[in-house]
Amino acid sequence: MSEKMEEMRSFFDKRADTYESHMRENVHGSRMYYEAVAHLIPDTGCVKILDLGCGTGLELDEIFKVNSQATVTGIDLSENMLEVLKRKHFDKLDRLTLIRGSYFEIDFPADSFDIAISVQSMHHFNRNQKLLLYTKILNCLVTEGFYIEADYVVETKLEERKSRESYEKSKDLSNAPDGFYHFDLPFCIDSQEKILKESGFHRVEHHSRFGNTSIFVAHKNSASL
Ligand SMILES: C[S@@+](CC[C@H](N)C(=O)[O-])C[C@H]1O[C@@H](n2cnc3c(N)ncnc32)[C@H](O)[C@@H]1O
Repeated sequence: MSEKMEEMRSFFDKRADTYESHMRENVHGSRMYYEAVAHLIPDTGCVKILDLGCGTGLELDEIFKVNSQATVTGIDLSENMLEVLKRKHFDKLDRLTLIRGSYFEIDFPADSFDIAISVQSMHHFNRNQKLLLYTKILNCLVTEGFYIEADYVVETKLEERKSRESYEKSKDLSNAPDGFYHFDLPFCIDSQEKILKESGFHRVEHHSRFGNTSIFVAHKNSASL
């Protein structure tokens, strides 16, 4: 059976109102990984964060509990997801810059963010797309900066290969034009670590795992957390 190819932006625009309850109720470990991501953020000071695929801001809800002074730039394709985020955090709009667009196309200012994060947004992309994006992320971090990714990751190479075969099959069957589709292309832990290292991150750690979600921390330089 091949999975249906649905265009990414409209997929999330249509589901923005029910997205948070879906994540809380159906994604195993979601409460724990949002909290774990937040606890990797320093709890004091005005930390500058770039959130790629921030959606409705489930990770930001937890991050603001840990560090209420954090300044966040969030990028997302879906207007409706960003609207939910704005409604929840209307009291922080002076510290929240929200950009509607693709993080592949938007330029990130060099050496500007202490921390970049992405939660459940990267498992739709292939190796080359990730290499390109991770290099952009690396360049926008300050010297001691780091990138946190919490995402759907499989255990084995075999599962990784099967998801790729299923993607190719669906793409052929649907004759889909080039673009971003909501289709799961998870890597295994080992491949994911290799791609981050190949992009130039100095040290990459597989920090923790909750259900099918792994958290990786990739350091720009040799500094430790
Ligand atoms: C599963 S949601 C995750 C949202 C949020 N980070 C969370 O964990 O609840 C994935 C988000 O990534 C966004 N997204 C996917 N591809 C993107 C791209 N190329 N540029 C910007 N946002 C993207 C989607 O619009 C969606 O809001």
